[in-house]
Amino acid sequence: MANDHDTVVYEVSNGIAWLKFNRPEKRNAMSPALNRAMMEALDALEFRDDVGVLVLTGEGTSWTAGMDLKEYFRETEKDGLKGVRKSQRESYGWWRRLRWYQKPTIAMVNGWCFGGGYGPLFACDLAFCADEAKFGLSEINWGILPGGGATKVAVELLPFRKAMYHAMLGEPIDGKTAAEWGLVNESMPLAALKDRVTAVAQTLLQKNPVALKATKDAVRRVGVMTYDEAEDYLVRAQEAANSYDNEGRKEGIRQFIDEKSYKPGLGAYDK
Ligand code: ACO
Repeated sequence: MANDHDTVVYEVSNGIAWLKFNRPEKRNAMSPALNRAMMEALDALEFRDDVGVLVLTGEGTSWTAGMDLKEYFRETEKDGLKGVRKSQRESYGWWRRLRWYQKPTIAMVNGWCFGGGYGPLFACDLAFCADEAKFGLSEINWGILPGGGATKVAVELLPFRKAMYHAMLGEPIDGKTAAEWGLVNESMPLAALKDRVTAVAQTLLQKNPVALKATKDAVRRVGVMTYDEAEDYLVRAQEAANSYDNEGRKEGIRQFIDEKSYKPGLGAYDK
């Protein structure tokens, strides 16, 4: 029997947790075992003091080839509805955890990203990919609709016509196209990807962590609110953040106004 824990690996270095899909021989397809291991890894890393940013990447040539068609679909369906619902809960569960993660998260898409992979892709706050990567809603190619949130992700990130084309045609697009369409922030040659992601992570590490969590949640939340609801939510979110971090923003103001040691328009205050 496969050891759940081999399917996911992580290491923490200089404030960054590098979390990896680790089934390269299966193109990092998400099996139930991998989904359980991911939830455990996210749990283990979330509140560690030495983790300021989490990067999700893949071992080998793939980020993730989506759900494991054998272990996630065919084998769980043998157990009827309860098998299906259990495995859905395990996958949706860690994507949801990731969407609302305490720390900023970055998808570093090194290769294939298909179908169910759009769940964790969207769950990460930022996404950078290799030009060599390929993204696709391949569900239509084997006869299902893009479920598990994949259709929602396409509609959230892409204009209507592109979302419809992407979902109906099942044609993979390369990294550069994914960046042009808005599936990721940026695409670059694979050889440059890790350095760029490290630089972004280091910049995030310099920011006030309470403000970062409040900010990332706000960006996800306000999309479905009216302007007035958003204004109200943001007032309360800032007040809640203040209660956990009374000193941070005062220090930020002090260093700018009194000490004149930095300019908030150009970078972060010295924590
Ligand atoms: N589920 C189960 N096994 C998979 C998956 C998957 N999603 N993807 C790859 N594998 C397995 C293959 O069956 C193969 O196993 P084997 O060595 O035991 O035969 C192994 O991984 C290597 O796969 P290859 O196809 O040989 O690798 P290649 O690099 O040539 O192609 C590619 C990679 C394009 C990703 C191809 O494997 C593929 O099309 N995979 C399926 C992608 C997909 O449509 N995923 C489902 C999306 S829909 C959803 O997630 C709901």
